[in-house]
Amino acid sequence: MTEASVTTTDGTESDDTASSIETTTGESTERTKAEWREYSFAGEPVLSVEDLNVWYGDDHALQDISIDIPEESVTALIGPSGCGKSTFLRCLNRMNDRIDVARIEGTVEFNGEDIYAEGANLVELRKRIGMVFQHPNPFPKSIRENVAYGPRKHGDIQRGLVPKLLGRDEKNKEDELVEQCLRDAALWDEVEARLDDNALGISGGQQQRLCIARCLAVDPEVILMDEPASALDPIATAKIEDLIEDLAEEYTVVIVTHNMQQAARISDQTAVFLTGGELVEYGDTDQVFENPRSQRVEDYITGKFG
Ligand SMILES: Nc1ncnc2c1ncn2[C@@H]1O[C@H](COP(=O)(O)OP(=O)(O)OP(=O)(O)O)[C@@H](O)[C@H]1O
Ligand SMILES: [Mg+2]
Repeated sequence: MTEASVTTTDGTESDDTASSIETTTGESTERTKAEWREYSFAGEPVLSVEDLNVWYGDDHALQDISIDIPEESVTALIGPSGCGKSTFLRCLNRMNDRIDVARIEGTVEFNGEDIYAEGANLVELRKRIGMVFQHPNPFPKSIRENVAYGPRKHGDIQRGLVPKLLGRDEKNKEDELVEQCLRDAALWDEVEARLDDNALGISGGQQQRLCIARCLAVDPEVILMDEPASALDPIATAKIEDLIEDLAEEYTVVIVTHNMQQAARISDQTAVFLTGGELVEYGDTDQVFENPRSQRVEDYITGKFG
């Protein structure tokens, strides 16, 4: 008998911190262990979340979430519907602020700075931590204007009548930026000849890559993606997946996906949320999928529930 384990009368091994008990109905009463959520990596985290709790009215949507996210990598968030993945993602750039009933406690640090600190600049925050949604949402403007919108709004590029009259119109700079962002979003070759066409006239997969280009145009550091390919066909999905892997060489990508194969294919680390808004396991994607430490996570991944 080892120090850590005790052999019980029915011959099963257990220890003091036994975390999983099968009940008669088969569901597990497993308790999450802190070490299942420990993920170590070299360097400082880009995002560091500590004891994050979110309520919508009385509904406790996220419970004591602590997680560090490394830079220039893809972190996948998976888990059954309603477990709080989108809620968590929105906490990372304060999009939940827009929901009146949402109440948030805990800290989220971005490069060591608390994004919920009083006086935090939300425009700057959302520029540095951009977001791409499930359904592509280009503006009803031209392809060019969609990409140039952010840089124009933030004053990074001077366009329009006044700069023109003042001789400060930066059309060339804008053209270069639009091309670069569309190239980085793997869309340039498909839209080069129709930059002035309305963005709503291109395909869904192209629209989603345009939204990624629009996000890149303001030079973000982190890109949050909430099921960015779930409304797309397999070919468009493959393009987005390739793109995400390329983006991770320069950006930090955090992606919510319902597609386990997608998470396994493209992510470096995976965080598994389960019903009740609990982060149950976080680790190297290979470890989480091939050798999960939690029985509930294994059941979820192997399709036994969720
Ligand atoms: N705006 C809101 N107002 C009230 N409750 C909300 C709101 N948004 C989410 N919730 C609740 O919070 C919980 C978590 O929702 P969330 O959308 O984060 O889950 P999810 O994991 O993204 O689910 P899905 O996979 O279906 O997108 C759910 O119980 C949901 O009903
Ligand atoms: Mg969601």
